[in-house]
Amino acid sequence: MSDGATARGSATEREEARKIAEGLEHLSGFGNEHASEAVPGALPVGRNSPQRAPLGLYAEQLSGSAFTEPRAQNRRSWLYRIRPSAAHPAFTRTGNGALRSAPFTQTVPDPNRLRWNPLPDPAEGTDFLAGLWTLGGNGDVTQRSGMAVHLYHADASMRRVFSDADGELLIVPERGGLLLRTEFGLLHVEPGHIALIPRGVRFRVELLDETARGYVCENYGAPFRLPDLGPIGANGLANARDFRAPVAAYEDVEGPVEVVNKFCGNLWAATYDHSPLDVVAWHGNHVPYAYDLRRFNVMGTISYDHPDPSIFTVLTSPSDTPGLAGVDFVVFAPRWLVGEDTFRPPYFHRNVMSEYMGLIEGAYDAKTAGEGGFVPGGGSLHNMMSAHGPDRETFDRASAAELRPQKIDDGLAFMFETRWPVSLTPQAARADHLQQGYDDVWQGLERHFRPLH
Ligand SMILES: [Fe+2]
Repeated sequence: MSDGATARGSATEREEARKIAEGLEHLSGFGNEHASEAVPGALPVGRNSPQRAPLGLYAEQLSGSAFTEPRAQNRRSWLYRIRPSAAHPAFTRTGNGALRSAPFTQTVPDPNRLRWNPLPDPAEGTDFLAGLWTLGGNGDVTQRSGMAVHLYHADASMRRVFSDADGELLIVPERGGLLLRTEFGLLHVEPGHIALIPRGVRFRVELLDETARGYVCENYGAPFRLPDLGPIGANGLANARDFRAPVAAYEDVEGPVEVVNKFCGNLWAATYDHSPLDVVAWHGNHVPYAYDLRRFNVMGTISYDHPDPSIFTVLTSPSDTPGLAGVDFVVFAPRWLVGEDTFRPPYFHRNVMSEYMGLIEGAYDAKTAGEGGFVPGGGSLHNMMSAHGPDRETFDRASAAELRPQKIDDGLAFMFETRWPVSLTPQAARADHLQQGYDDVWQGLERHFRPLH
């Protein structure tokens, strides 16, 4: 084995992790009360905190909402573990790497349309946590409002454990499968899937392929939920039953384990004398989950006009104003276009919301041109009220296209859409992989106006 293989983890380790990932069972549903035990009899019956919890376990509640929030929004889970989470030494500050947090005040907010190429390859031995690179965001972690856009690149499995007190982490893999070992059990995601780690939940990311790359929305605000469906009815968009929660699985490890905690924008580390992924049974609704974006039930026009992209919302983090999300997660999944007398790609627009778009695979139907292009692993930012829409090539093509039914099935793009402008980190504003000349894709849109017929 070369030194490189040692640093990244061996192919055998990845194969073993893949075997585990592909054999996983899961629980089904979104926001419901799950219950799972890795050892029969580990879950107490009829009460949460008996005088002595079964099998010598410790009972512990993990709150994802204030105790008193309305029942429909209340989130908590009860964990039955080998040691209580309180059994840890003091945390001390450790380096933040390229991870940054709100408030983002180090650059002047930029109204320009911006686009980035993918992150460069990581330095050898980079795990998921070390590979987090913050593009920007809004809000304030100490106010539990706003969001951050991160990208990640990694070539090594985590040996340590991470948790984020500042928000939940919506992970969008673009390259490489991941095995997420969480306090609640294991989740398997591949490019085209998403995983969500709730605020405060400890987890470790193991790689199933040589490298991994993708996007993360760190949501400081209200937990993501499924959007209301209104007149759509009882079914559609992301169906609750397609969300996967883990079944209980624990590791019984005595020995030093590094645990890193993100708190108010900084990373803090402590070396435990045991693994905190030691939950033998649990029940509750504050749980990690995964979802295959290809299961998204796409709604769209069967008459005319391109509907507003809110029709593609997978998850929404509501704010205190009805309908105004702190952040929405939106997917542009394979779908048929059949609109008559309709400009079928997304229309030109200026949006009060700010849009960060990423591409998981293939191409996006409104962006085909430009130096560097909109490529998998890259991303674009169209901040509040910036004017954008199809590039010139797309406009010309779609304006002249014969409007037969057409299947869009060559790409999977997504958007983090937020009510507040996204301010950049200095590393994103000055990145070598920030494209120059993105504006060029909208140059040369010719004048066609003919006032007299
Ligand atoms: Fe847009």
